[in-house]
Amino acid sequence: MVNFWQQLKLREKPFLALAPMEGVTDYVFREIITSAAKPDVFFTEFTNTEALCSKGYEKTIQQLTYSESQRPIVAQIWGTDPKNFYSVARMIKDLGFDGIDINMGCPVRDVMKMGSGASLINNPGLAGEMITATKAGADGMPVSVKTRIGVKEIVTEQWIRFLLEQKIDALTVHGRTAKELSKVPNHWEEIGKAVKLRDQYAPETVIIGNGDILNHGQAQNAHTMYGVDGVMIGTGIFQNPWVFEKKPKEHTSRESLELLLKHAKLYSDTYPGERRFVAMRKYFKIYVRNFSGATTLLKQLMETKDFSEVEHRVLTTG
Ligand SMILES: Cc1cc2nc3c(=O)[nH]c(=O)nc-3n(C[C@H](O)[C@H](O)[C@H](O)COP(=O)(O)O)c2cc1C
Repeated sequence: MVNFWQQLKLREKPFLALAPMEGVTDYVFREIITSAAKPDVFFTEFTNTEALCSKGYEKTIQQLTYSESQRPIVAQIWGTDPKNFYSVARMIKDLGFDGIDINMGCPVRDVMKMGSGASLINNPGLAGEMITATKAGADGMPVSVKTRIGVKEIVTEQWIRFLLEQKIDALTVHGRTAKELSKVPNHWEEIGKAVKLRDQYAPETVIIGNGDILNHGQAQNAHTMYGVDGVMIGTGIFQNPWVFEKKPKEHTSRESLELLLKHAKLYSDTYPGERRFVAMRKYFKIYVRNFSGATTLLKQLMETKDFSEVEHRVLTTG
């Protein structure tokens, strides 16, 4: 059977993915983006394998909530112990996800200190064990990896080749080292190298390029210039929640504010309680921008504690 990554590759070039972003791309946000303009594939926030295999299960499993309208959806995981990757892959398969993705790119110090995320770039032995264990647990469900091009130095040649030799279904390459965080322009030419390595060592693996893409035109250029099958957009969604529109058009401030209200309502219905609602504030700037009065409204919204306050502020804005 042709897996969904291959189907995406056949259908559209480049296909577009919403990047996994911890604390941002949760169930509610994905639901809102689905209603605005849906990407070709979603990823969950990264979810810890150790927590899913311990007392943290009840709380952590909530990060893997999704809806049918969010398909195809890939669960992203991170952790240290390959045994847990096996168990979690089984769990994710049982939950009905379309795929499972291993994070080998997170540059956060605490994650790297545990031997997870981008630190795996310097530990291919463990990375290989994780992939093997995940594949065994996934039992046919597609397995992919998201990574960077090095820790301190750029090591595209060795690292990407190694990953490709593991015969994974898809590989997302963010064109920066862990040390570079997001502080330098993305090295797209290194992603181009990854595509050439793929052609040589693993023609079946789908390559997704990631870094600094803000719109369709740029995604199309990345495909034309570097040959990537898909393009992943992360922070670009903060500038335009309709970024995945097939035929991009201008949206009015009214449409933006309507989308904000929809988001805040679903957020408050899904995660009841004032304490939780405070975390909704980080999304306001996505919708409240580029119109007269935006700065004042944003300031007012940053003080709201529940949906009714948000609604009041938005509806009384002239
Ligand atoms: C707030 C935030 C959270 C992130 N969380 C994750 C994550 O959970 N898993 C992951 O693989 N990458 C994560 N990333 C990295 C993004 O997926 C993406 O690789 C990065 O933002 C570069 O793409 P962009 O230039 O399109 O934003 C995160 C990035 C941001 C800004």
